[in-house]
Amino acid sequence: MPTNLPVVLPKIAEERLNRLKNRTARIGVIGLGYVGLPLSLLLSEAGFKVTGFDIDEKKVVELEAGRSYIFRIPAEDIQAARKQGFSATTDFSHLSEQDAIIMCVPTPLTEHREPDLSYVENTAKSAAPWVREGQLVVLESTTYPGTTEELMIPVLEAGNTQGLKVQGKGAVAEKGVFYVAFSPEREDPGNTTVARRDIPKVVGGHEEIATELASALYEAIFTRAVRVSSTRAAEMTKLLENIYRCVNIALVNELKVLALRMDMDIWEVIDAASTKPFGFHPFYPGPGLGGHCIPIDPFYLSWKAKEYDFNTRFIELAGEVNEAMPAHVVQYVARGLNQHKKALNGARVLMLGMAYKKDIDDLRESPSLTVIELLREQGAEVLYNDPYFAKVGRGRRYNLNMTCTPLDNLEQYDCVLIMTDHSDYDYEDIVKRSRLVVDSRNATKGIQSEKIVRC
Ligand SMILES: NC(=O)c1ccc[n+]([C@@H]2O[C@H](COP(=O)([O-])OP(=O)(O)OC[C@H]3O[C@@H](n4cnc5c(N)ncnc54)[C@H](O)[C@@H]3O)[C@@H](O)[C@H]2O)c1
Repeated sequence: MPTNLPVVLPKIAEERLNRLKNRTARIGVIGLGYVGLPLSLLLSEAGFKVTGFDIDEKKVVELEAGRSYIFRIPAEDIQAARKQGFSATTDFSHLSEQDAIIMCVPTPLTEHREPDLSYVENTAKSAAPWVREGQLVVLESTTYPGTTEELMIPVLEAGNTQGLKVQGKGAVAEKGVFYVAFSPEREDPGNTTVARRDIPKVVGGHEEIATELASALYEAIFTRAVRVSSTRAAEMTKLLENIYRCVNIALVNELKVLALRMDMDIWEVIDAASTKPFGFHPFYPGPGLGGHCIPIDPFYLSWKAKEYDFNTRFIELAGEVNEAMPAHVVQYVARGLNQHKKALNGARVLMLGMAYKKDIDDLRESPSLTVIELLREQGAEVLYNDPYFAKVGRGRRYNLNMTCTPLDNLEQYDCVLIMTDHSDYDYEDIVKRSRLVVDSRNATKGIQSEKIVRC
């Protein structure tokens, strides 16, 4: 991106830029969840003094005691950050001491599948009184293009007790301003092939100084910052990435259903297609979409598109195909049972895997939750095993109150249903010990057995 950065930066920005570059800056991270906590630790590891802010007092207590509440983050990492000066608090007044503030709060959908920006709005409202001259405020939450400009900036300006304004796109102010940018989080939970710091960080400021400050901040912890021309371009980049994934997963899910009818193995076909050195990127079918991102983010854009009288047909179609997958799985459980002259009604089904994908402890939007509901509606008794969840209680869209069942005596179940292909499972042994295995993940690839129904 060509930069129009003023040759001489205003002193308030230059001081911040220097502190970011030499890592003496103080960084506040708001929202200490799956995104905010690892980010805080990365910043801390790079030498910054980091303060984490959250409204959840339990998380703050845990972190202050040097404990972790996210499975893949060991307590030792929290303790190392604590030694580096990391602390957590619910007291937002400490935001005024920070050089940069990064917001990582949830952006779910409402019950009517519309963007729920209440977390972003509430966070901006709580932060607004404490924003200080020259500070950089970055939003990382995934959202539709325009959120930073249309929602966050007005809330921050309206609530600022010192009457500060965001540096605008025109003349550069010497004082009375703060800087705003958007930078999407691109973490892929459970992915151990790419180190977090090697994922380039897209950065779009409201104007050039904000882009420069935010890039300096992220260049301290990521190998590369990718500057784009605006907050809207950065917001849209994240949505394009996730829509691309959502649409392609829908495509292979649809082709999988067809391949099953044609008595073909879609995974074999995908593996063969993947040998093409250009123009093909493999996506894999599954029992439905899960996680806080792919099933949700595309609908942020669909909603915004309506403002422009635009219907995002790919997104709607992909949503329709992906949302039909849990029912497809249930249909194959019924078929498998049928082969054993059993009905779904009254069958005992052991589900392997609650998490929405392998080797992670995240249940959000997991298709396993929907499949349990559908199986129960048909009269099946469902139990589960998942090394990452000793219990599953209630959440935003479920109320299960179940506890993890050991993998003993698998013969007692009418069906063992593989929903998540965790690496901990010995699939060969599971097939050997079960009467019927329905596999929605191709976890039993290469195992020859009449007991397996692949779906
Ligand atoms: N989880 C991922 O892998 C991932 C990947 C890419 C992008 N994202 C995006 O990042 C954002 C955050 O996701 P997450 O998975 O970390 O969510 P999360 O639910 O794990 O964490 C959010 C944290 O924000 C806190 N919070 C809520 N309201 C607050 C407020 N008003 N003030 C302070 N703290 C508040 C919550 O208590 C929670 O600790 C979302 O927009 C999500 O779409 C997530």
